[in-house]
Amino acid sequence: MKATIAVLAGDGIGREVVPEAVKLLKAVGERFGHVFEFVSGDVGGQAIDKIGVPLPQETLTLAKQAAAVLLGAVGGPKWEGLEYSLRPERGLLGLREQLGLFANLRPAKLYPMLAEASTLKRDVIEGLDLLVVRELTGGIYFGKPRGIEKIPGGERGINTEVYTTQEIRRIAKIAFDAARKRRRRVTSVDKANVLESSELWRRVVNEVHRDFPDVELSHMYVDNCAMQLVRNPKQFDVLVTTNLFGDILSDEAAMLTGSIGMLPSASLGAHAGLYEPIHGSAPDIAGKNLANPIATIASAALMLSYTFHLEKEAEAVESAILRTLDQGYRTKDIHSPGTRLVGTSEMGDAVLKHFAQG
Ligand code: IPM
Ligand code: MG
Repeated sequence: MKATIAVLAGDGIGREVVPEAVKLLKAVGERFGHVFEFVSGDVGGQAIDKIGVPLPQETLTLAKQAAAVLLGAVGGPKWEGLEYSLRPERGLLGLREQLGLFANLRPAKLYPMLAEASTLKRDVIEGLDLLVVRELTGGIYFGKPRGIEKIPGGERGINTEVYTTQEIRRIAKIAFDAARKRRRRVTSVDKANVLESSELWRRVVNEVHRDFPDVELSHMYVDNCAMQLVRNPKQFDVLVTTNLFGDILSDEAAMLTGSIGMLPSASLGAHAGLYEPIHGSAPDIAGKNLANPIATIASAALMLSYTFHLEKEAEAVESAILRTLDQGYRTKDIHSPGTRLVGTSEMGDAVLKHFAQG
């Protein structure tokens, strides 16, 4: 197989973790006889510094032409004062919008050897395996009207939560389809006791459910869900929810597994899939060889599976991650007494070594 992968490392630790995943993908290519061509582009703060905008046209073209996009992270304090439309985050949001990436899959699975790294008790999280399906191109992130306007005596900040039937239907389908490959249970998360957009969400999810009678559906308010995620997270299989609720709940779900540095994501839609760790640019630890590259390496594994349908290859990468952890390699975020503390590039090398041995 031959394919082009757009590599957008972005800002902060994105620049450190992405090269580790690229190393792995190159090794996959060599071992399984695929030709991956990597083309790099600018996005986020570093694109602002270099070109003046967070999503240069060139980057967009590159992403559209590629079979898949591997992204690091965007943002940092350096760019926080900028006008909203020029912030690094607009680079990522623009990519999602322009590539039509409406479905964001964020699996949260506990690696058994990391149970100690979680802040929750072992019996609460042991065996945890859930999938957050987050709607990614609608809701309050993109709804109009939006902005800040002057009013007598001050200003007014406005954002709008909007969902159409079509948007809800397509994300619900993704969730039910995903559930069919798992434990066949979907929990749809909304705030239907307060928001009309949620009322419609619930109604449409129920309609779509009629085509999936073999999947069990339940509904949960988002505040309750946030609570249930720490109380008894193993009750969940697939969670499907809006852009904003999914942003919040997926960080929470990630932390159940010990570290946000472990969790990958896939964003799918009309064009090339985009794969990125769910963590951010972590400016506080950037440039120090402290970041955990596993979330990005696992995102590359998702790419192999979802975009390229290379299941054997994806499994080989996942198994290399498992064996690396099993051998006690730990970056600082998942370190516990008696394990082996390593930096970003050493962790990447360790996964590479175990991949080569697998
Ligand atoms: C995420 C991030 C982004 C989001 C930011 C960086 C715009 O938090 O991917 O979860 O809010 O979607
Ligand atoms: Mg987030």
